[in-house]
Amino acid sequence: MLGSRASAEPGPWRTSRTPYLKEVMDALSAVHPARRVVFMKGAQVGATESGNNWLGYIMHHVPAPALAVQPTVELAKRFSRQRIDPLLEETPALRERVAPARARDSGNTMLSKEFPGGILVLTGANSAVGLRSMTARFLFLDEVDAYSGDAAGEGHPIALAEARAATPVLQRQHAVA
Ligand SMILES: Nc1ncnc2c1ncn2[C@@H]1O[C@H](COP(=O)(O)OP(=O)(O)OP(=O)(O)O)[C@@H](O)[C@H]1O
Ligand SMILES: [Mg+2]
Repeated sequence: MLGSRASAEPGPWRTSRTPYLKEVMDALSAVHPARRVVFMKGAQVGATESGNNWLGYIMHHVPAPALAVQPTVELAKRFSRQRIDPLLEETPALRERVAPARARDSGNTMLSKEFPGGILVLTGANSAVGLRSMTARFLFLDEVDAYSGDAAGEGHPIALAEARAATPVLQRQHAVA
């Protein structure tokens, strides 16, 4: 579901509206052989939204630790409030799996969303601590062109983030938009 808080066209997602995203989203399926999906794109073509669909699919169908990176922690917070919270609140299958943020000890904070079998952690490419705080099976790197070349002197954020998914687990997967 696309929330009214952030979407130009709120309501149910329709792939028919942006048919070119079908192949990108199919490649993000856990049964697709692609392990790294790179999206070279123009502005406002639905890239972030296709990544959000992937995050919802992970929570519902292939639960595992997932890390979503925005250029800065500040942008990760905004992404959480504007894009992730509406997705979780307005999609019935996800509403069942993630407790409302208001509840105490809900496992749902602005930068971390627990669900049965996994957790979604949101962070910024400017936070070396955030980038090396967990092992992730799925990695969603959004707006990589805006990542600074060095996360607080610890190396390139993409390399740091990809090292999170470097353990030899089956079907780890990256998306770079
Ligand atoms: N299939 C769709 N159906 C309805 N609305 C859509 C669809 N795809 C994208 N949108 C809407 O279009 C707008 C742009 O989508 P999105 O933010 O995902 O694009 P983007 O390529 O990530 O943009 P940016 O270049 O700003 O990063 C959003 O409001 C989104 O909700
Ligand atoms: Mg985007």
